[in-house]
Amino acid sequence: MEDQNSSTDIDIYKSYLKVDNPYKGGKTLAEIKSQSQKMYKLSSNENPIGASPKAIAAVQAAANNLHLYPDRTDARLRTALAKYYDHALKENQFVVANSGSETLELIIRAFMSEGHECIISNPTFLIYQMVAKWQGATIHDVPLLSPNFEVDVEAILAKVNDNTRLIFLTSPNNPTGSYIPKATLDMLIERLPSHVILVLDEVYYHFADAADFTTAVPYVKAGKQVIGINSFSKTYGLAAMRIGYFYTTEKIADYIHQICKPFILNKLSLEAGIAALEDTTFIQATVELVQTERKYMHTELEKIGVHFWPSQGNFILTKPPIGEKEFEDKMLDLGVMVRPVAAFGAPGCVRITLGDREANDACLAALRKVYASFA
Ligand SMILES: Cc1ncc(COP(=O)(O)O)c(C=O)c1O
Repeated sequence: MEDQNSSTDIDIYKSYLKVDNPYKGGKTLAEIKSQSQKMYKLSSNENPIGASPKAIAAVQAAANNLHLYPDRTDARLRTALAKYYDHALKENQFVVANSGSETLELIIRAFMSEGHECIISNPTFLIYQMVAKWQGATIHDVPLLSPNFEVDVEAILAKVNDNTRLIFLTSPNNPTGSYIPKATLDMLIERLPSHVILVLDEVYYHFADAADFTTAVPYVKAGKQVIGINSFSKTYGLAAMRIGYFYTTEKIADYIHQICKPFILNKLSLEAGIAALEDTTFIQATVELVQTERKYMHTELEKIGVHFWPSQGNFILTKPPIGEKEFEDKMLDLGVMVRPVAAFGAPGCVRITLGDREANDACLAALRKVYASFA
């Protein structure tokens, strides 16, 4: 046996897991100290009208049986999803997990480890690079093109090599609100080699109304190596329940299912997800509100002289005339929580979630005050 002391020099910590400033997500209302006035939370892209009533009722009913294990698999939610997609996709093309973020984690764990590479396009959602780092993978940033955040297809293709496994694109994109026209996606997907998978994050897809917007569905149906990421946190108003899913080719879905734990979804989330998919009235009400309020905010922000980018999501990216932290604090003092997004690759910018009319008017009133002090 070797001398036991010799093992003291062995570093058991993976160097790539030493993260300086880990992503913590947006603050909750309870974390905001100034509770003296009504606070409008426009910082986490949550649903302005709450949660699907059908989902709430399903959670309440399920709460009577908390002593029993839930379904062993995600099969019932996958059946509901196939129905929701009008059977354009089969049940076994879906994979369900505890949030959209966790679906991303499954994909990254399944396809990448040290020596593998992925491509992201900043500014964008932070989770892709965070989880890819956990796997020891190399991350290449091919920034979106200024001034309007278009995807740089040629630069992405130029970065692809034999070690590349995943490309992450987001449409509508968080935090920019920009989307990827179908022609651009066609161009990219046609030219991807067979060892590279495009992960298209479309958690805001219900809110898009651009004529040339597309989800991943046509590509997956055509058998392309594309994965469409979705979440129940936005349109269905179930952020607290942590439910997400993706759809892809049967081959990729079967492969990733191998690393899904038994009892992957808790009973409350499972029932909430199934009920939410059937709540077409709620889905429609949410989409209508977001699209109406988005038009309203675009017009009103223009009048105030706010520098912003037109959005296809349930939020708008702005560039205030002062530092983003100072701006966040001023808005907080006026009762509105907004989100600085330097960590998403957009330094100096702040993302404002669309609320209902009352919240949006409160936000506009606060913006008028802040901008007036710099006029
Ligand atoms: C682009 C994008 N993808 C995925 C998610 C993950 O959503 P969740 O983990 O709440 O399902 C979010 C959440 O904000 C997002 O903005």
